[in-house]
Amino acid sequence: MPINFNAEENRHTYVGRDVQQDWFDLIQKLVDPGDKEIADIGCGGGIYSLAWVKMGAKKVTCVDSSQQMLADTAENTAGIPNIIIKQGDALCTGLPNNSQDIVFERALIHHISPENRTACFAEAHRLLRSGGVYILQDKTMQDVQLPGSPENIRGYILDVYPHLHHFEMQRRPNNIEVSHGLKTVGFKQIKTISLLEKCTTYKDFSQLATDFQLRKGRSIMHELSNEEITHLINHIKKFLGSKTDIVEKDFWTVWIGIK
Ligand SMILES: C[S@@+](CC[C@H](N)C(=O)[O-])C[C@H]1O[C@@H](n2cnc3c(N)ncnc32)[C@H](O)[C@@H]1O
Repeated sequence: MPINFNAEENRHTYVGRDVQQDWFDLIQKLVDPGDKEIADIGCGGGIYSLAWVKMGAKKVTCVDSSQQMLADTAENTAGIPNIIIKQGDALCTGLPNNSQDIVFERALIHHISPENRTACFAEAHRLLRSGGVYILQDKTMQDVQLPGSPENIRGYILDVYPHLHHFEMQRRPNNIEVSHGLKTVGFKQIKTISLLEKCTTYKDFSQLATDFQLRKGRSIMHELSNEEITHLINHIKKFLGSKTDIVEKDFWTVWIGIK
């Protein structure tokens, strides 16, 4: 069953880790966030909203459709004055026209049905000032079907449960369609970049197993029963069971468009 972002038991799914240097390095090559107004749409627990503040943003508006996720954002960003939290839909945020320098959407569009994605891109375009930058980060089919390995732990999920290819096919954005959609709504200088982003370091295998059991940070795990997750953990244990300081990296595609 797809993840329910509004369910209380799914709170804390997108918190508990810090953004790593790979992501900062890429973003700093693309934009200068200093003194900019930024909307982080589909912000989850606000992990990346905080990263934008760290990079010197003037104001970060955290938008999410889920009150539960925004409760995490509020906890995670407590006391930071230039963070604004707003419940809203990515297709219709309620933020003013031409109010943002950067609109950022990470791991959002695979949760938006393909027929609504153009409306999502159009909303980002409406929010941006002229010259503003839209940054979309998500996983394509190419990113998710890379085989499992100690460097690509997520890959083990499809290795063990190949039927999930179909689930991913239905929701994963296609590079050509996204680039075309961005162009259709008026973005210029559209670029696509691959990113290998370090996300989590587990001190040992038991920490990794606990994260998997809690289905943390991976909505695809909500397609699996508890028994299937236990079987998956046992499979991964064969490769990583005796390791310490296990570094998990994720393959992403990043699209950039200028208004
Ligand atoms: C996979 S999480 C990503 C969280 C965060 N961006 C990150 O990368 O850590 C997706 C987030 O998008 C939110 N979301 C899903 N559909 C949305 C929509 N139509 N409008 C706004 N937020 C949405 C969910 O509530 C969830 O917090």
